[in-house]
Amino acid sequence: MPASTQPDVMDKLVSLAKRRGFIFQSSEIYGGAGSVWDYGPLGVELKKNLKDAWWHAMVRLRDDIEGLDAAILMHPRVWEASGHVAGFTDPLVDCRTCKGRFRADKLQDARCPQKPSKRPGEAEQCQLTEPRLFNLMFKTFMGPVEESAATVYLRPETAQGIFVNFLNVQQSTRQKVPFGIAQIGKAFRNEITPGNFIFRTREFEQMEMQFFVEPGTDMEWFQFWKEERMRWHQGLGLAAARLNYHEHQGSELAHYARAAFDIEFDFGGTLGFQEVEGIHNRGDFDLSRHQEYSGKKLEYFDQPKNKRYLPYVIETSVGADRTTLALLVNAYREETVQGEEEGRTVLRLSPSLAPIKAAVFALTKKDGMPEMAHRIASSLRQHFPTDYDETGSIGKRYRRQDEVGTPFCITVDGESVKDGTVTVRDRDTLSQDRIAADAVRDYVRERIA
Ligand code: GAP
Repeated sequence: MPASTQPDVMDKLVSLAKRRGFIFQSSEIYGGAGSVWDYGPLGVELKKNLKDAWWHAMVRLRDDIEGLDAAILMHPRVWEASGHVAGFTDPLVDCRTCKGRFRADKLQDARCPQKPSKRPGEAEQCQLTEPRLFNLMFKTFMGPVEESAATVYLRPETAQGIFVNFLNVQQSTRQKVPFGIAQIGKAFRNEITPGNFIFRTREFEQMEMQFFVEPGTDMEWFQFWKEERMRWHQGLGLAAARLNYHEHQGSELAHYARAAFDIEFDFGGTLGFQEVEGIHNRGDFDLSRHQEYSGKKLEYFDQPKNKRYLPYVIETSVGADRTTLALLVNAYREETVQGEEEGRTVLRLSPSLAPIKAAVFALTKKDGMPEMAHRIASSLRQHFPTDYDETGSIGKRYRRQDEVGTPFCITVDGESVKDGTVTVRDRDTLSQDRIAADAVRDYVRERIA
């Protein structure tokens, strides 16, 4: 993978995210829960806009993909059939000296906690154990009494909910192969080395789509989805130079995959290029295993061809949290502003993803300005998230909105009260247009679509 040329902005982002209400550490007042994060008022809007963009592109705009919302808890046999009970493991090594715990296959990327200039095992005093396999699935119990209840798992991927519902969806919607099923939902993995903020966490959201195709057409569809998904990431505003494909070779391939590409994003600094989405050709691995383990036929009947077969599956699987982090990293800028001493921090998020679309200011708290500004804010709120702010200098208010990526700031001044016009300031160009207050809604709406 190419080396990163981008600065490391992670620490600054973690601090901004907390200060401005994007992302908080889970259970912070108890010292925090390991690698679990909560989304605050602005974070929940940003992540929701991202998920809506995915749902719109994958489900609403296509007549060959259906939506689904399967449960997190599933029959335990699902995970035997899927191969996760036997094979969803990472090799784990412990260091007897520093008590650090590492993935044996990622030692080259890890740092010794006692000697950060060295890798685990490199310093003289390091004593690493032999690798042992560690299953990443969280276990819990279904039923009231722990001993007699069945062990169930928190799903480590949303995909299996789609496979077990393949025929339910196909028959109820009368879709014909090729067609897809898409869902957004939580997944859980007891990661050995989580970290880098919301990059690798133990609870996260996936946006997954399984596209069912006739065997023999699978590599064509694989190519199609590989390109389509890259276009989607670029459409979010992620810089093309920061996006990259990585093809899986040999042992890198997951147990279910015949071919796989990652779409990688350059997170900057030492993290560099990392997977945000996986595109996999899963063949008929999952449907044939579920057919075998459940004893239920999952074949598709192709009427025009008068034949039955198990479709092959092309999967697109993207992390909502990891992509949210990519959006924040991609958008973060520290800029100088002409004519001003103080620079600004700005999130240049695409307006369609920005958590707040417009902020309305009263220049001063008198002469009818707050009343007019309040009226405008509440009318805009009917259409998109809108903030109201009347405290501090106008410059300070602009900076506060820049820092959270608000694309438009509307100011009500003395002139506004007389002639019904306001100024609209653009976050990126800093240009200001004076327009009729009545026209603000359409002005913003056209620019945030
Ligand atoms: N169903 C296939 C599957 O789950 P994956 O490559 O293991 O494939 C897909 O995961 C995506 O889910 C990744 O590209 C990443 O964006 C996200 N993801 C996986 N593990 C994650 C974790 N521990 N924390 C945050 N996101 C994760």
